[in-house]
Amino acid sequence: MNILITGGHGQLGRELWQEARTRGHDVKVPSHRQMDITNIKAVRNFIDRHQPVCVINAAAYTQVDKAEIEESCAFAVNKTGCKNLAQVCAEGKIPLFQVSTDYVFDGQKKAPYLESDPVSPIGVYGLSKAAGETEIRLNLRKHIILRTSWLYGVYGQNFVRTMLKLSGTKENIRVVSDQYGSPTSAVDLAIAILSMAEQWHQHSSVAWGTYHYCGQGIVSWHEFAETIIELARRYRDVKTTRVEPITTADFPTKAKRPAFSALDCNLIKTNFGIKPKPWRESLQLTIRRLYELKEAFDCTPHDNSLR
Ligand SMILES: NC(=O)c1ccc[n+]([C@@H]2O[C@H](COP(=O)([O-])OP(=O)(O)OC[C@H]3O[C@@H](n4cnc5c(N)ncnc54)[C@H](OP(=O)(O)O)[C@@H]3O)[C@@H](O)[C@H]2O)c1
Repeated sequence: MNILITGGHGQLGRELWQEARTRGHDVKVPSHRQMDITNIKAVRNFIDRHQPVCVINAAAYTQVDKAEIEESCAFAVNKTGCKNLAQVCAEGKIPLFQVSTDYVFDGQKKAPYLESDPVSPIGVYGLSKAAGETEIRLNLRKHIILRTSWLYGVYGQNFVRTMLKLSGTKENIRVVSDQYGSPTSAVDLAIAILSMAEQWHQHSSVAWGTYHYCGQGIVSWHEFAETIIELARRYRDVKTTRVEPITTADFPTKAKRPAFSALDCNLIKTNFGIKPKPWRESLQLTIRRLYELKEAFDCTPHDNSLR
């Protein structure tokens, strides 16, 4: 398949790029500069020139706290960017696979969120991503919107890489213990997206619409951090002796975050046969990969603002 991947230089995009090539696809991965999704002419030119059979949109404004003060930038990328892609895909009659977020929910539910649950974002980032979802539904029938949560991987800035870095220098790490969700490995998510695209290509049709995909199991950031440190010990000396549980109130941030944002993944299992792996299993593989790549410590500290 000739696939266009936007945001292909980000944490998920790089996994998509790698996995798509491994599976033998012909991938076009323009940088932000080469194809700015906020510019419909740039999107149209690129798609006209390269004629992809489908588009995977991993481009997004992802800085949750900064979005509170850069609302128009967040909306330009996450809403207008999606609208542009959906319109150009509709003109070319090609499907769009869009990545969205658990932050479209307010976190008040006590059980994993279903695709049919009403969205109710509590921050600008979530509002802009929800607006992007709406634009896609309005402009393009052949779409998949795949919501995910707590994304991490070997590339980019993420919670896992930050904890590994801190564990090399800090004895005590403070982490919030009253926000719950499901960590998702970027490589697992990339495989799920490509598998959906391949099923569409094989069968010429699929059940279009909104789906959820995240690692199996629910944890707090605190438990997630403790597990990261425990796994890191297998590979090297760790300075951290305590991961201290704190509350959201102890760690104020510009943007509010949902207290509970686990996603129910039964629909993707039923319609696509895709079953998420237990989060701990995927984390173990990622940490091993990070140490093998020796990339674990060359990231800047995580400021809890990337989602
Ligand atoms: N990270 C999480 O925890 C999380 C959780 C749930 C859902 N998600 C969703 O997962 C997807 C991938 O996230 P990620 O963590 O991989 O994000 P990321 O690492 O921040 O990557 C985003 C990419 O989008 C590009 N981009 C930004 N604005 C663009 C524009 N106007 N035109 C073209 N490209 C643009 C960025 O390029 P530059 O760097 O050059 O600007 C970057 O390569 C996003 O849709 C995000 O909302 C993420």
